[in-house]
Amino acid sequence: MAHEPSEIARALDAYPRETLTRTPTPLDHLPHASAELGTELYLKRDDLTDLALGGDKPRKLEYELANARAEQASILVTCGSAQSNHARLTTAAAKHLGLKCAVVLSRDGPRELQGNLLTVQLMGADVHFIDTADHWELGEHALRLCDELRAQGENPYYIPVSGTTPLSCLGYIRAGLEIADQLEQRNLQLDAIYTPFGTGGIFTALLLALRERGVNCPIIGLSVNGDEAHCHENVEKWKSALCEMLFLDPAKRREPYEIYDEFIGKAYGDATEEALDAILMMAGTEGILLDPVYSGKVFAGLRFHCRAGRWAKDHRVMMVHSGGVPAVFAYHEQLSQHLRKRSIAQDERRDQR
Ligand SMILES: Cc1ncc(COP(=O)(O)O)c(C=O)c1O
Repeated sequence: MAHEPSEIARALDAYPRETLTRTPTPLDHLPHASAELGTELYLKRDDLTDLALGGDKPRKLEYELANARAEQASILVTCGSAQSNHARLTTAAAKHLGLKCAVVLSRDGPRELQGNLLTVQLMGADVHFIDTADHWELGEHALRLCDELRAQGENPYYIPVSGTTPLSCLGYIRAGLEIADQLEQRNLQLDAIYTPFGTGGIFTALLLALRERGVNCPIIGLSVNGDEAHCHENVEKWKSALCEMLFLDPAKRREPYEIYDEFIGKAYGDATEEALDAILMMAGTEGILLDPVYSGKVFAGLRFHCRAGRWAKDHRVMMVHSGGVPAVFAYHEQLSQHLRKRSIAQDERRDQR
């Protein structure tokens, strides 16, 4: 059964939400990056959400934390990589609500006390390091920690790795409705929307909300870890849960959407040459910072499509900047090496002139 826009908004409103950020976030046209790309580029600035350096998580945590409050939790428990944005923002959200926070982190990726890890420690989370890069194993450790905390008289509230649950996806249903409002207010018709794809929470929730509001351009997800087939499985999983929660028709056609897995590099968190170039381009044209794990990879994919001729001067594409910027400090070695490489190349070009 098709739903009027107000119906999805009404269904969403039935879920309690703890306000963690001011919305709407800006939707900006980027004139200098557009000139360089040869197509009109818009950026949804979810890197500017409130809470310790922003990103996608405040929107997602608003719904989880309402639940945590209802359950009278005393401590939030979650897990992730050593440079987890989710650990940073869960810690910040816990402190905002006057709760404690414990995070179980893997010893993969950059581990020095920098970037996200530094912020987690500064905000006083109880950090447990585990020797694994396997996220399932991290989850088991976190659940065991919950048992220990219960035995000590705490009431832990567990949020899984990356914070994506059907409940937290509601945050990006709300973001999708917000984007649809912004497009409508400006009478702006987009040719494509680019988003990161980690667990697929952002991607799937935006897809559902935008389609309900009649925004029918291709939604393009750039995977940062899983292969394309796995990403499609995730879309189905989140879609069926969200359709049930919001009384939407799961069988409704929501194409076109596309998922690309060729910009991941060797593994999750690999600072690819394309992502590093994308970071330099955005920073050098607009003074906007991207990160090597999420937004740099999305922009790398978008730039690749521009170079391949998919988007031309009269097209308008929007990218969702989901944050993650503190990672640039953890990746300072790769970034400074890349800067040196590119400035040497620039010097050589200058010498040849
Ligand atoms: C900055 C940033 N962007 C995007 C994502 C991925 O979002 P999703 O898991 O909903 O695909 C994450 C997840 O950890 C993130 O930290």
